[in-house]
Amino acid sequence: MKLIFEKSKKGRACSILPPCDVPAVPLTPGIARHKKAALPCLDENEISRHYSALAKRAFGVNDGFYPLGSCTMKYNPKLNEEVAALPGFTQIHPLQPEHTVQGCLRLLDATSRYLREIAGMDAISFQPAAGAHGELTGLLLFKAYHQSRGDAARTKILVPDSAHGTNPASATMAGFQVVNIPSNTDGCVDLAALKTALGPDTAGLMLTNPNTLGLFDPNILEITALVRQAGGLNYYDGANLNAIMGIVRPGDMGFDAVHFNLHKSFSTPHGGGGPGAGVVGCKKPLEPFLPVSDVSLDGGIATHPESIGRVRSFYGNFLVLVKAAAYLFTLGKEGVPEAARAAVLNANYMMACLKNKYDVACKGTCMHEFVLSLETLKAKHGVSALDLAKALQDEGLHPPTIYFPLIVHEALMVEPTETESLETLDQAVETFLALHDVAEREPERLRSAPLATVIGRPDDVKAARQPILRYKGQ
Ligand SMILES: Cc1ncc(COP(=O)(O)O)c(C=O)c1O
Repeated sequence: MKLIFEKSKKGRACSILPPCDVPAVPLTPGIARHKKAALPCLDENEISRHYSALAKRAFGVNDGFYPLGSCTMKYNPKLNEEVAALPGFTQIHPLQPEHTVQGCLRLLDATSRYLREIAGMDAISFQPAAGAHGELTGLLLFKAYHQSRGDAARTKILVPDSAHGTNPASATMAGFQVVNIPSNTDGCVDLAALKTALGPDTAGLMLTNPNTLGLFDPNILEITALVRQAGGLNYYDGANLNAIMGIVRPGDMGFDAVHFNLHKSFSTPHGGGGPGAGVVGCKKPLEPFLPVSDVSLDGGIATHPESIGRVRSFYGNFLVLVKAAAYLFTLGKEGVPEAARAAVLNANYMMACLKNKYDVACKGTCMHEFVLSLETLKAKHGVSALDLAKALQDEGLHPPTIYFPLIVHEALMVEPTETESLETLDQAVETFLALHDVAEREPERLRSAPLATVIGRPDDVKAARQPILRYKGQ
C-alpha cells in the first residue's frame, strides 16, 4: 500500500473555501513557518479511500475476539459514544460560567459518586489522563501526605514482582526508590519478604488485586494492615478492577488511593494511544493534596489548599467521563457486579477448556484473566509464545498479551472479558487447541506464521525505538 504522500499530485485539493471577506491579519513576527508545509495533495475521494484501506488493516474489538490480557478489551456500547457526542457535552468550554454548564457539573457529581462508591473512596480527581498518570498522581499524594507530617524519610515504595511495568516507573518518577517484593509459589505476595522490606523508610505499597497472574491475593487484608502498621500507605492499581467492580472495594481492602482505568472497565475504546482517563480516588487524609477538579452538588467545585497542583487541565478528558457515566447509569448497581462476574466466569471457562493441553501458570480459580506458559512447548518443539501469537493472527484472533507478567516464562495472558458469547469462547478454545496440535506435529508451521497478514514479523523493538515519523525528512 502506498503512503498518502506517494499518492499526492501537485495542485490536487479538496477544500472549497469562499474568498476571504475579512481583512487579513499578519501573524506575530517569528511564529510563521519559513517554508510551506509539505502536505499531501489529494482529492476527498482518494483521502477517504486511503483511510478506509488503513482502517481495514487494523484489528479492533469490532473485528473479532481480542483477549489481550491486562487490557480489558471489551465491547464498548455505541450508545455511550452517541451520548458523549451530544452537543451539550461537546460544544462547551471549561471556562464557561458555571450557571451555563449545570448539566455537565451534575453529571460529574454523579460520576464521582458512582466511582467513589465502587472504589470505597472519599474523594476523586478527574484529571489524570491514563492509568500510569493516575499512579504518578497517587504517589505524589503519598509524598505530600508524608511531607505534611514531617515524615520525609519515607522514600521507598514496595512493588510486587508481578506488577505492571508502569508501577515501578511511576514510583521512580514521583521520586521514590522502588523495592521489589517477590511472589510466593502461589503467585501472590510473599508475606515474609514483605515483612522484611517494611521499615521506617516505607512510603507505601503499590498493588493490583487481582494481580497480573489473574489471582486475588487471599492475604490482602494482612498485607495492607502490615504496610499501615509500618507507617506506609497502600495504593491500588485499578487496572484490573473489571474483575471485582461492585463486589469488593479497594477501600475496604485497606487501600488509601486508587486509580480507575476508565478506558478499560468503563466503556472507552482504547489501544493506539487514547484518549483515556486514570481518575484517582483517595481516602479523607489524602484529600487535601488532590489536584483540584472534584465537583459535588453540596460542595461545589472543590479547592484543596495543599494540592499537589494540576496534573492536567480542568476535569481531564471530560468526554471519557461522560462515557463512563453513561455506562454506569445503564448498568446500575446490579449490572456492574454482574459484568464483573461474567468476566470472571468467561476467563475460568476458557482456562478450564485449555488446561489439559496448555500449562496454566497458577493452578486453581482465576479472576478475569489467566496466564498460560509455553515453556514446555518451546523446550520440546521450539514453539514460543510469539509463534503461537502470530499463528492466532492467521486464524483471525487477536493474540493475548505475551511475555507478561515477566515472572512467567513464555507467558500468554488471556483476558476474554464479559462481552464475549459462549460461541466466541468455544471457537477461540478450538483454535487454541488446534494450534497446540500443530505445534506438536508441525512446529515449523507456527514458526513461520503469520502468513495471512499484511506484514509478518516486524522488528518491533526498532519500531518502538527508532520510529520513522516523517516522510522523507519533511
Ligand atoms: C495492571 C496495569 N496497571 C497499570 C496499567 C497502566 O495503564 P495505562 O495504560 O492506562 O497507563 C496497565 C495497562 O495496561 C495495567 O495493565
